[in-house]
Amino acid sequence: MTPDLKVTIAGVEFANPIMTASGCCGYGEELHRVFPLKTLGALVTKSITLHPRSGHPVPRTAETASGMLNAIGLANVGVDAFIKDKLPFLEDKQTRVIVNVAGSKIQEYVDVCARLEDCPPVDMVELNISCPNVDEGGMEFGSNAALTEKTIASVKKVFTKPLIAKLSPNVTDIVEIARAAEQGGAEVLSLINSVVGAAIDINTWQPKLTNNKGGLTGPAIKPIALAKVDAVYNACTVPIIGIGGITCAADVVEFMLCGATAVQVGTALFIEPDVPVKIVKDLKTYLKQKGLASVANLRGKVRKY
Ligand code: SIN
Repeated sequence: MTPDLKVTIAGVEFANPIMTASGCCGYGEELHRVFPLKTLGALVTKSITLHPRSGHPVPRTAETASGMLNAIGLANVGVDAFIKDKLPFLEDKQTRVIVNVAGSKIQEYVDVCARLEDCPPVDMVELNISCPNVDEGGMEFGSNAALTEKTIASVKKVFTKPLIAKLSPNVTDIVEIARAAEQGGAEVLSLINSVVGAAIDINTWQPKLTNNKGGLTGPAIKPIALAKVDAVYNACTVPIIGIGGITCAADVVEFMLCGATAVQVGTALFIEPDVPVKIVKDLKTYLKQKGLASVANLRGKVRKY
């Protein structure tokens, strides 16, 4: 028996539950040189904004124990260049395409998504309402329940494909924000974005990032992410995409047992760019060993004390 890795999210079928996390492989061109993108359930692009952004000056990444800090500042080519120069590459790669969208005003999210509405290769949009590295927008939207609901409801008026709300862990109550996103019309929730952190160079006494602080990702945040996925799964009805420090199939299983339907792999790509190939293979082996016919059988099955 070959276990079935297919998952369906908001009516869209994915070949498997393994996706890339936004910001960890640009628009997919370089990653496709390492392994065929059809290995993935979906490729999630770097955040796209209305206008091109060069982001923060370097250094904008720093290594930490079991993780990485970043403050890229949403560097991207802007939606028009994305549609013209980057999206065509993804058209024939036989993987689902999820475009991550960021903005500094609600209208910017709306304008970007309105342009993406007419782009057939785009299967879903992931709304980045949780970037911790910009002064305007980003986490500001995703840390306020009313603003979360309003942003999503506004985008829903112009974008008819499934909408994912990417949630921040840097809030008092992620369940309140998750419910607001669901209320606004998000068909899917992805969590967590990075955890706000800092690192200081003890020789120069300067922060290691020009933005002074950044977002922590990697294995260090996996336990935080699992607890948040569990909390949101028990409070909301929409499917969840789990994100946070996933490096191997065992991590994927943990997220699915806590309620995730799919997962995104991010920081691990910087260490081992073809790690999704290994994760897909090992996930199949795990399911076989457990005698499970489908990966969907794992969802929410954590046996709590
Ligand atoms: C960045 O571009 O600074 C990171 C984006 C994010 O964490 O959402």
